[in-house]
Amino acid sequence: MVKSVAEMTVIEKEELLKKISKELKDTLSETRYLHSVSTMKKAKELAKEYHQEEYIVMLTALAHDIAKEMTLEQYLAYAKKNEIILDDYDKTETTMLHGKIGANMVAKKYGFTKEMQDAIYYHTTGRAGMTLLDKIIFLADKSEDKREGPEAEKLRTKIKEQGLDQAILWDIENAIIPKMIAKQRLIHPNSIEARNDIVKKKRK
Ligand SMILES: [Fe+2]
Ligand SMILES: [Fe+2]
Repeated sequence: MVKSVAEMTVIEKEELLKKISKELKDTLSETRYLHSVSTMKKAKELAKEYHQEEYIVMLTALAHDIAKEMTLEQYLAYAKKNEIILDDYDKTETTMLHGKIGANMVAKKYGFTKEMQDAIYYHTTGRAGMTLLDKIIFLADKSEDKREGPEAEKLRTKIKEQGLDQAILWDIENAIIPKMIAKQRLIHPNSIEARNDIVKKKRK
């Protein structure tokens, strides 16, 4: 049985961070590894600003793309072996599968808590009722400093000037949805629900 992160001391969390970093360095491409480290740095900044436990946020951010470079065959084999149910979106939009598979992997390999798993599960789509950890991981991934281009720039400004919810809303409406339409791909209902949830809360 892997020890749960919830029961780990600060030193154990620090060791786990080093272990994951080494494993990702050995298994991911260099670009993806550097993106993971940069996402961790951005997430740490946000954790400080929003008073979240830094190690929980850093561990989650570092491991968020752990399953990103698996092949479709590997996803399907992993899902079968671990009894993960795949829906129509998983089967059609397989790039989104890395969140679902990754969330399962980090629990089994590293003892990530449900809250940490969820933030990885939903990091590409968002969801209704996002937790602060969900929001930090979602945004750190898309706005980390190595990401170039107008979208990442805009997102960094939005986070600073208008906060997490407005930045997520902007990203869903101006990046996720238009991109999926342009590519004639399916828009995941979780993104629509995340967007509607923020709009609803704004009205109150
Ligand atoms: Fe990802
Ligand atoms: Fe990522």
